[in-house]
Amino acid sequence: MFNIAIDGPSGAGKSSAAKGAAKELGFIYVDTGAMYRAVGVAALRRNIDTKDIPNVTAMLGEIEISLAFEDGEQKVYLNKEDVSKEIRLPEASMAASDVSAIPAVRAFLFDLQKSLARNNDCIMDGRDIGTVVLPDAKLKLFLTASAEERANRRYKELIDRGTPVDYKTLLDEIVQRDYNDSHRAIAPLKPADDAVVIDSTEMSLNEVIDFIVKLVRENEDE
Ligand code: DC
Repeated sequence: MFNIAIDGPSGAGKSSAAKGAAKELGFIYVDTGAMYRAVGVAALRRNIDTKDIPNVTAMLGEIEISLAFEDGEQKVYLNKEDVSKEIRLPEASMAASDVSAIPAVRAFLFDLQKSLARNNDCIMDGRDIGTVVLPDAKLKLFLTASAEERANRRYKELIDRGTPVDYKTLLDEIVQRDYNDSHRAIAPLKPADDAVVIDSTEMSLNEVIDFIVKLVRENEDE
């Protein structure tokens, strides 16, 4: 199987780039952040503090997370219920960041991620895909952009959707999540030694997709 790992901070455009490249290549796109979000939502629904390690860990025995791929779109199920919309709510972002620092949560999702990669040509996006989940991925990418540019993109996206937001709040949240994700003890966000780093601050989405597709084609030929 041809596996591509794509890691990077929140809002760097990983999911849009991975989705676009997967479509062009005929690969499946696996969004692992969505899995952490689903665990976060499960905790929020039970009123469990998302930083409470024993309680979040105990909850894992009660939940099942699965993915389905419909028309190239990934759907996320929590105990067979489609939670694909709910996981995108702002409170789910912080909950996901909290639960993702819990080792038992990472172990819980690791098997699911591994088996998807074993059985499919895929582009898997996350924070630790090239470093921990798929260390043997054929191609590893680290997609980043400045925090200000990422906040800008998110701001435009939300305003276009008619959701009123404050730019400074978004920027603060991004900086906070970057810090959480890269300073945690387990699987911190960092580029794999052999990752190709792409800084998309000055690149359009199509430029990023074209760049990735080109890299894959070059690797396929080898
Ligand atoms: O990519 P995202 O914003 O949907 O991810 C949500 C949170 O999950 C993010 O704060 C970091 C965490 N995450 C992780 O720790 N490891 C991954 N492979 C994917 C996401």
